[in-house]
Amino acid sequence: MRITAAAAFLVSCMPSLGFALIGNDWNFARALPDGLRDITFPFNMAKAPHRSGFYFAQQFSFHGVKEVGYTGLQPREDKEGRSIVHAAFSSFQGGTTTKHRNCHLGADFGPGVSCAVAVPGNYSHTYDITVENVRGTTWRGTLINSVTRKRAVIGEWTLPRGAGKIVNGQMGFVEYYTWNTQRSHTCDSLPYTHAFFYHPTSRTKGAVDGAVTRVYEYGSCVGQVGYKANKTSTGYNIEVGR
Ligand SMILES: *[C@@H]1O[C@H](CO)[C@@H](O)[C@H](O)[C@H]1NC(C)=O
Ligand SMILES: *[C@@H]1O[C@H](CO)[C@@H](O)[C@H](O)[C@H]1NC(C)=O
Repeated sequence: MRITAAAAFLVSCMPSLGFALIGNDWNFARALPDGLRDITFPFNMAKAPHRSGFYFAQQFSFHGVKEVGYTGLQPREDKEGRSIVHAAFSSFQGGTTTKHRNCHLGADFGPGVSCAVAVPGNYSHTYDITVENVRGTTWRGTLINSVTRKRAVIGEWTLPRGAGKIVNGQMGFVEYYTWNTQRSHTCDSLPYTHAFFYHPTSRTKGAVDGAVTRVYEYGSCVGQVGYKANKTSTGYNIEVGR
């Protein structure tokens, strides 16, 4: 993994106010130097309780601009007997614009654009989130149920002029955002959750062997949240809380 130092730097100045607990690194073993036109991050939250609070996310950055984007899944409470899958797609880059109805200006109280969609969805299915270039510096996030193939556009935003393609390699995280707005909490009060972070894929020419290469704890609750992770051939199980 070549971005360890970069990842550590990003942790210390992450734009999110999020209470991140677990990080992961991802990259493609090979990719053309100008980057990726598309990337797909699959997630599974079959064993996650249907409660708001956790965000299972991957970050990505772009050549030519400074700030990152995030995308990922959040569990939600059931509604009228149906389970709800919430997906987010955001840019923290100042000057990002949008006209998409799922999106609004601002990301975590800072500059950028946030987009989200919530759909009824079976938690035992794996959900793919595709981030792809649609034209110029405009990018679309799409949620795809890998079993039913049902798709929902999460949103679309346009980075400032000069933004290039997606940089090969970034990090991701599990955060408990409920703690962001609480004055204090104890680490051992973290509720249980579980998610599977699959290796990323891309259809971009030259991009091969996408992988989640490492999973690790960070932040102020290291060693206190019942963190467990293990690797399989397709990605990582991540478990936290009690
Ligand atoms: C969810 O999906 C699983 C596996 O495809 C299936 O066995 C189960 O019946 C589904 N549940 C609902 C509520 O549709
Ligand atoms: C890996 O983690 C999952 C869920 O966290 C667990 O069910 C499974 O038993 C673990 N496998 C190993 C080999 O530890």
